[in-house]
Amino acid sequence: MNIAIIGTGRMARQLALGWSRAGHTIFFGSRDPANKGDLLKQTPGATVVTAEAAISAAPLVVLALPFTAVAPFARDQAAALRGKLVVDISNPFDHLPDNRLAGAELTAQAIGPGARVLAAFKDNFWNTLLEPRDPVYNLVRDVHFAGDDVDDKQILALLIEDLGFRPIDCGPLKNARILDGMVPLMLELDRRYASSQGRSSWRLLN
Ligand SMILES: NC(=O)c1ccc[n+]([C@@H]2O[C@H](COP(=O)([O-])OP(=O)(O)OC[C@H]3O[C@@H](n4cnc5c(N)ncnc54)[C@H](OP(=O)(O)O)[C@@H]3O)[C@@H](O)[C@H]2O)c1
Repeated sequence: MNIAIIGTGRMARQLALGWSRAGHTIFFGSRDPANKGDLLKQTPGATVVTAEAAISAAPLVVLALPFTAVAPFARDQAAALRGKLVVDISNPFDHLPDNRLAGAELTAQAIGPGARVLAAFKDNFWNTLLEPRDPVYNLVRDVHFAGDDVDDKQILALLIEDLGFRPIDCGPLKNARILDGMVPLMLELDRRYASSQGRSSWRLLN
C-alpha cells in the first residue's frame, strides 16, 4: 500500500526501509524535500515531497515528528488527515507529566471529528526496527499499539507483521496513556539491564 511518513528522521527512515522491503510504497513528507536526496538512495522506490503531497498520496499516514510538533501539525493538516488512518508514534516524555491524556488522544482532538488515530511503535527503539528478532534471546520483538477502531487496528497489525514484528493490541486509544509511560521506564531499564549485544524491548511472554 502507499504509506505516507511525515518526518525524515531516525524512526521515519527505518520504518520506511522495512516497509519498502515488504513491497509498500513510501511517500516521505518533509519540511525540506529538495534536500533529502540521500533518502531516495536509502529507500528504493520512495518519494520525498511536502507533507501535504505525502498525505494526499496515501490512505495511511505515520506521524514521525517530535512530540511538540505533532499537535500543531495535526491542526494545520486536519482537513487532509480526516478519513486517513493516522499512526502517531511520538513520545511525550515530560511534556505530559500527568499522563491524563495520551499524546495520541491530543492528536485525535487536533484532527477533530472523523479522526482515525492509532498509537504505535512508541516503545520500540529506532535501531531495533530493522532487527525484529532480538539477537540475544532469539525472540521476535513486540510492537504495542492502541486504538478504537477494530478494522483500522487490523490494517496496522498486518503492517507491523510486514516489518517482522509481533503486533500486540493494547486496547482502546486511551491505553496509549500507559504506552506513553512505558517509554521512559524502558529507557531507565535499558540503561540498567541492556545486554551489550542489543537494545531492550518489551516482550509479552505468553
Ligand atoms: N528514536 C527512537 O528510538 C524513538 C522510538 C519510538 C518513538 N519515537 C518517537 O518518534 C518520533 C520521531 O523520532 P526520531 O527519533 O525519528 O526523531 P528525529 O530523528 O529527530 O526526526 C524527526 C523528524 O521530524 C521532522 N520535523 C518536523 N517538524 C520538526 C520540528 N519542529 N523539529 C524537528 N524535526 C521536525 C524532521 O524531518 P524534516 O526535516 O524532513 O521535516 C525530522 O527529521 C518522536 O516523536 C519520538 O518520540 C522515537
